[in-house]
Amino acid sequence: MSVEISGRLLSALVNAQRVVAFTGAGVSAESGVPTFRGNDGIWEKFKPEELANLNAFMRSPELVWEWYAHRKRIIAEIQPNPGHYALAKMEQMLPHFAIITQNIDNLHRRAGSKNVYELHGNIERNYCMKCRTPYSDDEIIGRDVPCLPRCRRCNGLIRPDVVWFGELLPEDEWGKSVSAAESADVLFSIGTSGVVYPAASIPLMAKRQGAFIVEINPQPTLLTDHVDEFLLGASGVILPELYSRFILEHQPPEP
Ligand code: APR
Repeated sequence: MSVEISGRLLSALVNAQRVVAFTGAGVSAESGVPTFRGNDGIWEKFKPEELANLNAFMRSPELVWEWYAHRKRIIAEIQPNPGHYALAKMEQMLPHFAIITQNIDNLHRRAGSKNVYELHGNIERNYCMKCRTPYSDDEIIGRDVPCLPRCRRCNGLIRPDVVWFGELLPEDEWGKSVSAAESADVLFSIGTSGVVYPAASIPLMAKRQGAFIVEINPQPTLLTDHVDEFLLGASGVILPELYSRFILEHQPPEP
């Protein structure tokens, strides 16, 4: 399947100094990570208010840990897809390239991307809620889970290092993401419904600064009316195609 990619997009990309990819659950869908909304979405089956907020965790930490242990196992068994790899390769070809992701699955890094800002945390990290001691999964999985992992130092409750509903985003990641968005020449919004704020404001920040905005999604979203180019389809198919077209255009001039 050949994707309709305009000359306008290719020249914007070839001439860009700063490029940002803003990603959501859809970029990992072809790896087997369920998205949150839409058919078969996680929030169709589970209630975020029962599993993805601090009150729920304080009310029944065992239930929340059981659910995260299940998600950790799924994510540990899957691989990045061609979409993740195409973005990692783009990073090597462009002077300034950053990935701002809402995903907690660590698949961008596993695909080789370096400059990744994680707005909602990372499911492979954990920390003690009392003394903030960090814990890797290896240190806790299998020891106490699905019971209740506790800190060796202060016996505090250990929680996954993810941002739950109602919680603030990590200040440093947010700060880096805002400055990347505000200085972007081209921003790709890939596989996100764009309904969860403040993350969803990132593409609009770039738009306000004059960036060329491209959306990649198998269906239109709330952002679609604001983009310069909409590429309809799966990111695991479109991104490799876009990368190869970019490479053809980007060929350094013969000496
Ligand atoms: N390629 C590209 N996009 C896809 C694909 C695919 N193969 N499959 C699905 N999509 C699109 C869907 O059409 C939808 O617009 O990905 C989007 C996924 O949207 P959501 O499930 O709402 O996920 P996301 O936007 O990442 O959610 C934001 O909400 O639940 C919280 O913290 C969680 O980070 C998450 C945030």
